[in-house]
Amino acid sequence: MSGPNHAVDALGALSWGWSGILRCYARPRGRRSVRGAHPAYSPGSSPEREAAEDHHPVVAFLGEEVVGTASLWITDGLGQMHVPDGPWRKAEAGIGYMIDPAHAGRGYATEIASALLSLAFDDLGVHRVTAGCFADNVASWRVMEKLGMRREQHGVRDSWHAERGWIDGFTYAMLAEEWRARQAR
Ligand SMILES: CC(C)(COP(=O)(O)OP(=O)(O)OC[C@H]1O[C@@H](n2cnc3c(N)ncnc32)[C@H](O)[C@@H]1OP(=O)(O)O)[C@@H](O)C(=O)NCCC(=O)NCCS
Repeated sequence: MSGPNHAVDALGALSWGWSGILRCYARPRGRRSVRGAHPAYSPGSSPEREAAEDHHPVVAFLGEEVVGTASLWITDGLGQMHVPDGPWRKAEAGIGYMIDPAHAGRGYATEIASALLSLAFDDLGVHRVTAGCFADNVASWRVMEKLGMRREQHGVRDSWHAERGWIDGFTYAMLAEEWRARQAR
């Protein structure tokens, strides 16, 4: 896969590409700025996640321009602690995405989220992927529904918004077998 040279230079590592019009690159761990990326460029990230081995920050380019950023992070599922290496270990991935407002409404978040699902299920082999959003963020949950994710939780005032305080949130999820069934269609 080829990409803009400055992007490869800036990011240092090429992660993966796919057949869409965007190109996605992994951002090396610990690198907190990438030329052209907006400041809050790694949705779902926290310092703890940033430091974790199983955190996959991503920058998406359209040509030479950064149009969005995203993250995938691996977590344990629920499991029984007396089976320390049970299949619940590292069984789940969380994903988050953010599009530059200048590029919103063109399907890019859907394309990026689809690439993250592919990374999670096809490359990393997780059992389940989840994503959350504010309940009134229609554009965000539309992206999840377009990809076949299922709304599993309406959390009452479970989400903190800087200006509005505690507001409702949604959690969506998809299983590996559901992803594979959609790919086979
Ligand atoms: C939410 C966000 C990721 C959407 O990105 P995007 O590239 O515009 O998304 P897409 O174009 O792939 O899809 C958006 C869908 O929502 C729909 N949509 C957008 N605003 C809508 C609204 N107010 N009401 C109903 N549908 C809406 C679009 O029509 C589209 O659906 P369609 O293809 O069926 O027509 C982007 O606006 C963003 O980054 N917002 C700020 C950060 C954020 O909220 N991130 C998600 C955190 S969970």
